Formats: sequence, structure tokens, C-alpha cells
Amino acid sequence: MLGVIGAMSEEVQLLLGELTDTTESTHAGIIVTQGNYKGAKIALAQSGIGKVNATICTQMLIDLFKPQKMVFSGVAGGLLPNMQAGDIIVASHVVEYDMDLTAFGRRHGETPGRDRLIECEPDLVGKATTAFDQAFEGVEGAPNLMLGTIASGDTFVQDKEKLRWLQREFAALATEMEGAAFGHTCHLNDVPFVVIRALSDSSSDSASEDFEANLHRACQNSFQLMDLMIPSA
Ligand code: ADE
Repeated sequence: MLGVIGAMSEEVQLLLGELTDTTESTHAGIIVTQGNYKGAKIALAQSGIGKVNATICTQMLIDLFKPQKMVFSGVAGGLLPNMQAGDIIVASHVVEYDMDLTAFGRRHGETPGRDRLIECEPDLVGKATTAFDQAFEGVEGAPNLMLGTIASGDTFVQDKEKLRWLQREFAALATEMEGAAFGHTCHLNDVPFVVIRALSDSSSDSASEDFEANLHRACQNSFQLMDLMIPSA
């Protein structure tokens, strides 16, 4: 069983529409759809936006559905100048950027007894990059793929200064609002995980407009990758 989570309905609906032999149940207000996808058994849930929702959803899926692996998929804001909407980021690491114990001499994102960067499972990262190649190699207008750190916090980032800070403080490629909470929860439960995001905006002044304009295309790109990754995960 593979656990798959997206935050918003747009981020889960393409996959949801393709599941067969489905059963639905609701836990902590979250609808979970179990079904088959090209021969693989998955439990798919829409967590809602933000770190608390992502944490609750992840722990609930782990406790009740016992997935061997977990994937979080959706959209993110890019943090580098030459990125394009639709480009795909596979997280090698995730960090909770708004965890702040700097008053105690710690670095941003760091808590006692834990590294500030949480590593995604290398085998799943490899499967995601292979799926990207299969989905997009030789395709005209294909998105780019980048592997690196995704920084998560409870803010929609629409601010040049903040995006620069996120890039420089964490060497992060993209920001979103769930991935590190999901990764933290999977890590504590010893469940291998990866976060896959397609860029909807550049986290800068026009981010909310760009988000609306690019959401569908970004979700299509991450779905194309998931389509090839799920059967191999
Ligand atoms: N998800 C997509 N774009 C985002 C942004 N700019 N900030 C936070 N989460 C996002």
C-alpha cells in the first residue's frame, strides 16, 4: 500500500479520477479513498492546507492504512530566478523554515535532537526522477526537473525578501506549506517518503495571480510524473 497526499482538491483530483475499485472513508474530517492505480494499491487523501493539516492527515493514514511508503504531491512556489511555471521539484530534503529557536542559539528550522533538514528516502527520490525521464524526455515544451531542498511554512510566500531569505538560509529550491510537516511525521514513524512538487509561481510579487493561472498546468505535470511513479513505487 502506497499513501498519497495532496493539500487541495486540484492536487488530488486527477489521480482520484483514475482510481478503480474504490472505497471511501472519513477520518478526522479527511476523506480517504482506497483504490487501485495501474496495479498498485493506494490510499489517497486531501489533507487541507498547512503544516497542522498535513501532520494530522499523515499520522492518520499511517495509523489506519499502514502504508509502506508515502508520497506528497502538489504545487509550490519557486525560489530561483530562472525557474518556469510547471517545472518539477523532487525534494531530496525538507525543512520547517518557520521553526524558530534562534533565541536559544539554534539555526532556523532546527529543534533539539534533530537535524534541521529531513532527508527524503533516496530510493523514492530515484524512482521519481526515473518517472520524470519516462514522462517528459524528448517531449516538446517539457518542464525541467530539479532535486533539492523544499522549505515549508504556514505562509503563502509573495515577497521577494522572504524568497531570497529562504533560498539563502536553506539553499531551498521551492516553498510550500505541507511537505516538511509530512516528512517529519513520516520520519518519526519510520515510513519512507518523498515530496514531489510542480511550480505554480515564483513566490514573488505576482505569486497569487500566477498561482491561479498556473495551478491546473502544474497539477497536470505532477500527475504525469505520479502516473509513472506509482506503479514502480
Ligand atoms: N504553494 C504554491 N505556491 C506557493 C507559495 N508561493 N508559497 C507557499 N506555498 C505555495
